Amino acid sequence: MHDSNPSKWKPQTLAVHTGVYKDEAFNSVTTPIYPSSTFAFERPGVTKGYDYTRSGNPTRTALQENLAALEGGLQAWATCTGMAALTTIAFLFKPGDHIVTGHDIYGGTYRLLDQVVRSQGVDTTFVNMGRPDEVKQAIRPSTRALLIETPSNPLLNLVDIEAMVAIAREHDLFTIADNTFMSPYFQSPFALGVDIIVHSTTKYLNGHSDVVGGAIVVGNERFREPVGFLVNALGTACSPFDAWLVLRGVKTLGYRMEAHEANARAIARWLVDQPAVTRVYYPGLETHPQHELACRQMRGFGGMVSFELDLDKRPMERFLEQLQLFSLAESLGGVESLVEVPWTMSHASMDEASRKQAGMSPGTVRMSIGIEHAEDLIGDLDRGLNGS
Ligand SMILES: Cc1ncc(COP(=O)(O)O)c(C=O)c1O
Repeated sequence: MHDSNPSKWKPQTLAVHTGVYKDEAFNSVTTPIYPSSTFAFERPGVTKGYDYTRSGNPTRTALQENLAALEGGLQAWATCTGMAALTTIAFLFKPGDHIVTGHDIYGGTYRLLDQVVRSQGVDTTFVNMGRPDEVKQAIRPSTRALLIETPSNPLLNLVDIEAMVAIAREHDLFTIADNTFMSPYFQSPFALGVDIIVHSTTKYLNGHSDVVGGAIVVGNERFREPVGFLVNALGTACSPFDAWLVLRGVKTLGYRMEAHEANARAIARWLVDQPAVTRVYYPGLETHPQHELACRQMRGFGGMVSFELDLDKRPMERFLEQLQLFSLAESLGGVESLVEVPWTMSHASMDEASRKQAGMSPGTVRMSIGIEHAEDLIGDLDRGLNGS
């Protein structure tokens, strides 16, 4: 294993050097892919650390060490999707337990809690997590945890993580934060007292739109054993090849996040002045209602920008069909820019009333800003919004 001393390194260095297992046979510089499903025992009961890939795999271990170091956690597990990470976490609850989360979380997480976890006897209340009073009011004797997603998807509302942790501690609850949107480069929930972090590594951590994956990182010793047990028992771990792809992607995380953010800031500022745009959602704008919280809680504002299109001035189809660089696609966090309409795409699994309650409309547009040149991206949006 690589001789590392992560604590003294900055995130860019950690991302490159943590969890690097060099192949001693040929002195490879990067971690090899170990696709072996099973590993031979030296003799009964004695292995070289691995016996079966669902339970553990050297390539996956390398990624897990990397992710744990980037989040400053105790241990990480790489799962086959972000939803697999959340599904694993859902099994920490027992029938009768209750969860409180935001009403504007990722649509797939909403569906999991509302339609799957609820049918297993674990109830969830969806509230406006930007209002700590609403969170407090939703807490019942059976409440076990707060699930935080910040910034929210797709409207980029912020949740005050420290305030949530304070409420959780007061009521003896644990906290889970979905850190997908900011990545560990821009936001460190463990430093704010969160117990468990989940990720869709499909997004910024991998960053190249070529794998689906997830991660669970624990920052509290209490969850280390149960999460490790569940990942193995449920079979939610990722394949060695997917682990290797994410490990390759994560090495450039810091530089990509800086580029995503610089572009997003420029685009958000430009959008504010567009006649067909009635509202821009970006925590980096001083006009964002929680800009001050964003400055306090995050080290950057990220690469996601949403806005409201005035459909009378510019029909959605017209806007979308003019775009050449932005692909009409769900997902986010890749090097290429994407655009989508949450009302009919990413959040269609929420019922209409819930979408409205969360603040979405048919004119809401969500963009994942890539790392192309800002001028080219603005030119593309200009065609979409103003081209004939
Ligand atoms: C914030 C957030 N969490 C979780 C997920 C689920 O991740 P996956 O699609 O990798 O299962 C997504 C997917 O878009 C997401 O945006």
